[in-house]
Amino acid sequence: MSVEVARDRAVAVVTIDRQDALNALNVETLTDLRDRLRELSIDNGVRAVVLTGAGEKAFVAGADIKYMSGLEPDAAKGWGGLGHETGRLLETMAKPTIAAINGFALGGGCELALACDIRYASRRAKLGQPEINLGIVPGWGGTQRLARVCGIGVAKELIFTGRTVDAEEALRIGLVSAIADPVLDKAVETAHELAGKSSLALALAKRLVNMSPGALDTEADEFGELFSSADAQEGLTAFAEKRAPKFLGR
Ligand code: CAA
Repeated sequence: MSVEVARDRAVAVVTIDRQDALNALNVETLTDLRDRLRELSIDNGVRAVVLTGAGEKAFVAGADIKYMSGLEPDAAKGWGGLGHETGRLLETMAKPTIAAINGFALGGGCELALACDIRYASRRAKLGQPEINLGIVPGWGGTQRLARVCGIGVAKELIFTGRTVDAEEALRIGLVSAIADPVLDKAVETAHELAGKSSLALALAKRLVNMSPGALDTEADEFGELFSSADAQEGLTAFAEKRAPKFLGR
């Protein structure tokens, strides 16, 4: 198996393991990752997902360049589509996804991290979109998501130059939220914290944050709607009663 899923109560840790290629994604590994994420997205027992790479060196060193070197445009479109589908699962599944960036997160690796809701980096992490140096462009969502996460100016500079940033710079430009070692422990800790919150409110928060700024009306509507849920009543009441809320997801 190139992708392993380990469960710790309501948290699933997904580990990409192709260490001889620095966890670069070939068709088999990316398909496996897509399939595992699909399963997790509909598994009600899983309330948060952590994505990481096996070994000490890499999160994911990108799409497999050796595989891509011979691709015709139609096949390249299919390959791009598979990466997009995988990124969309991380971005849209109704539960939080957290990238534990334990080393190189380059090209498609940085793009998968960008598709996650939260990113943490090890001090040894290196991130970037070096595709320009291969004569191509980011193809798994990087042009859009890097601009959304870090701003259009930072995205253009990084995508145009293809340079990589270290963990300190990634933190400064907002590409990651924190530096921690061991980074997986930090990600799992946050995942457990989020798993204890209202799954209903978290899923809605994720959906709303993912919408474009034009969605403010939707936010106002959905915010009101949420007050018909037992979880909202419970959470608001528990605060006033100075006790921990018990969320039921309805
Ligand atoms: N694809 C295929 N193989 C890769 C790879 C990749 N993206 N990244 C690393 N590898 C392989 C190397 O070829 C090498 O294999 P061999 O031992 O068989 O030669 C092995 O992993 C170890 O790599 P290095 O010897 O190069 O390790 P290093 O520590 O000297 O360098 C590195 C590390 C700087 C990450 C370097 O491997 C590198 O530059 N990799 C490519 C990074 C990259 O350009 N990623 C973007 C790919 S394009 C993309 O992802 C498009 C998209 O948007 C979807």
